[in-house]
Amino acid sequence: MTDSPATPAPKGLEELDAAAVRGFAAAFGEAPTSLWAAPGRVNLIGEHTDYNDGFVLPFAIDRHTVMAVREREDRLVRVSSSFTDEIVELSIDELSAEAVSGWSAYLLGVIWAAGVQGADLARVPGLDLYVVSDIPVGAGLSSSAALEGVVGLAIDELWGLGFDRRTLAVIGRRAENEAVGAPTGIMDQSAVLLGRLDSAVLIDCRSLETRVVPLGLDDEELVIVVTDTRVEHEHATGGYAARRASCELGARTLGVPSLRDLGPDDLGRAEELLDDETFRRVRHIITENERVLDLVRTLEKHGAGAIGPQLDASHTSMRDDFEISVPELDLSVEVARRVGAVGSRMTGGGFGGSSIALIHRSKAEALAEAQRAAFAEAGYREPVVFTVVPSEGAVRRPFGGASVADPAVERISE
Ligand code: GLA
Repeated sequence: MTDSPATPAPKGLEELDAAAVRGFAAAFGEAPTSLWAAPGRVNLIGEHTDYNDGFVLPFAIDRHTVMAVREREDRLVRVSSSFTDEIVELSIDELSAEAVSGWSAYLLGVIWAAGVQGADLARVPGLDLYVVSDIPVGAGLSSSAALEGVVGLAIDELWGLGFDRRTLAVIGRRAENEAVGAPTGIMDQSAVLLGRLDSAVLIDCRSLETRVVPLGLDDEELVIVVTDTRVEHEHATGGYAARRASCELGARTLGVPSLRDLGPDDLGRAEELLDDETFRRVRHIITENERVLDLVRTLEKHGAGAIGPQLDASHTSMRDDFEISVPELDLSVEVARRVGAVGSRMTGGGFGGSSIALIHRSKAEALAEAQRAAFAEAGYREPVVFTVVPSEGAVRRPFGGASVADPAVERISE
């Protein structure tokens, strides 16, 4: 399937490990001492519900960010990556939300946020960090949460901070909100850290309780196909923040701490008290929370082949009530339905990015072709279509020679 700078081909963890080690050596002139990986995520259902204290059902995917690390003694943190020649350098003593910027804020911001969360950063050493990734940027697959997850896990273990994964997600979100400046919820960081093979994770974003929900896709010969529209979104500005503000206005007007406190019975009152636009934003959140729980019940009772109605209804609600879809996403969802998907919806924050289709594996290739043909006919950029597998969350990678099957790497790591 098509490759482009924005949508790198899938590499597999071992290839990413090797690239991270090589890149690290080229950037910093010595070998790293440990390797860490964090996946991207797809949200199966529950969109914009996280910052409303509601329910989400994401899963980690088989696309990863890998980070090579070497500790240093002078409290400097230096970061570099395969997507820039730049090396950004900052002392741990100078860390603050304001002192970090650009892409390195995702990494440096997490170190700062760990301190805010109570980590004693006064005595930790410095770090050199080098990052590679096959998660497309701007595709709604949480390349940023993968950066936050990978550095969180690494410093937690290397510095013995003792945070559990839920707290690492909280730290990652704080970095995203306050250091990067994107007003997101907790979903992406949680998915990246808590994902389990063949499963999605049900997250109650108020209590932060989670439940692993097995998807059983193989049993039903189903796959999840992502269509990256290559319409790039940006969550630090614009529509995402506006949706969040509408939800806050709705909750304030209706006299509840958050929209999580409302159910279908409140829709009448909401319609009376709110202007039409705010009402539709609120209706999306109320019905989306219902759909998440309904989908989990359906999945557990009847299997993944039965969850199409909830997926489809979620997309309609995002298109018409929350208004975060774009024509390219709508087209990709229509094409998926035409080709015979069980269900399809846009995934992630919206205003671009990707849609997902749950579909019998025998139809996946036909779906990819149909998407490309439909996009060409509509005059849109060629989409990138690929299958994702629900995968494990962030991990430390085995490293020390034998596990990295690349002679160049073995030489470097000796
Ligand atoms: C982005 C944010 C998440 C969530 C989704 C929408 O991915 O990072 O916190 O709000 O959008 O569901």
